[in-house]
Amino acid sequence: MSKFKRIGVLTSGGDAPGMNAAIRAVTRTAIYKGLEVIGIRHGYKGMIESYGKPLKVHTVSDIIQRGGTILKTARCEEFKTKQGRKTAYENLKRRKIDGVVVIGGDGTFTGARVFNEEYDIPFIGIPGTIDNDIYGTQYTIGYDTALNTVMEAVDKIRDTASAHNRLFFIEVMGAAAGFIALNSGIAGGAEAILIPEVKNQVSTLKSFLEDGFRRKKSSNIIIVAEGEDEGGAYEIAKKVKNDFKDYSVRVSVLGHIQRGGSPSAFDRVAASRLGYAAVEALLDDQKSAMVGLQNNKVVLVPFRKAVKLHKDVNRELLEISDILSI
Ligand code: F6P
Repeated sequence: MSKFKRIGVLTSGGDAPGMNAAIRAVTRTAIYKGLEVIGIRHGYKGMIESYGKPLKVHTVSDIIQRGGTILKTARCEEFKTKQGRKTAYENLKRRKIDGVVVIGGDGTFTGARVFNEEYDIPFIGIPGTIDNDIYGTQYTIGYDTALNTVMEAVDKIRDTASAHNRLFFIEVMGAAAGFIALNSGIAGGAEAILIPEVKNQVSTLKSFLEDGFRRKKSSNIIIVAEGEDEGGAYEIAKKVKNDFKDYSVRVSVLGHIQRGGSPSAFDRVAASRLGYAAVEALLDDQKSAMVGLQNNKVVLVPFRKAVKLHKDVNRELLEISDILSI
């Protein structure tokens, strides 16, 4: 007989579109397999302060299409302490929770990994972050939706940029990684893309803009990842402005619009597959690992690798971007 009777599910870190679809998939798969499910609210904070309530089949109706997370989320400093994790463990024990599915990014998985080194309640992770910066999975839930949100914004900004002969710097999220910037830049036909993975890009950018200017390019869209090393879109705009007096320069920081909205079909399908796989992994006696997607197959990746190893962007895309924006 399975040792699992009741599992918990939580979302932690920055929310991402598709988290609700993952909560739904975890809940319904678990119920189908005869388990009870407790929705732990506010991430690890809720584990420490013991907020949570049973999730039923109907509790997760009508959420697959919604952004945000019905369980709420938080970044929890207390879970980084031994005492915080001890309290969390005692609460899980008291509530007879035999395993937990955690949906989040690398901070979430770092906490889960440490917890599983100390305590015997297994944690399985589902990668959910718009940043797509988790090693071991090609996609994280929310990334595709965020990418499409950015692309639509870039399309709109391009209309006004070309109407006025303007040089636009558009800053996008992504934390310390350039996935959103690189791929939205390609999808939006940006003239240049600045990402954290490539250093000291301002002088290259200037000569690139000069070339374009000589070729009578009337407007330019430059995508800047928030984590690049020159100080962000405003700073870069300041550095190049005086050299391009014929363009008027504008900066647009897209901000948290990138985190919201109804998840794309891709994110909903990924969330459904990974939610199902996470419950299967728990029932299969796995622990301290994340379910991810590689070559359209579900894979299990130890938290140890997911949080320690670096996932690189596809650098070929930079070259393609340079060629396509001549
Ligand atoms: O990790 C997701 C993310 O949206 C990053 O892209 C961004 O740097 C950060 O979270 C913003 O976090 P906050 O919720 O603190 O504004």
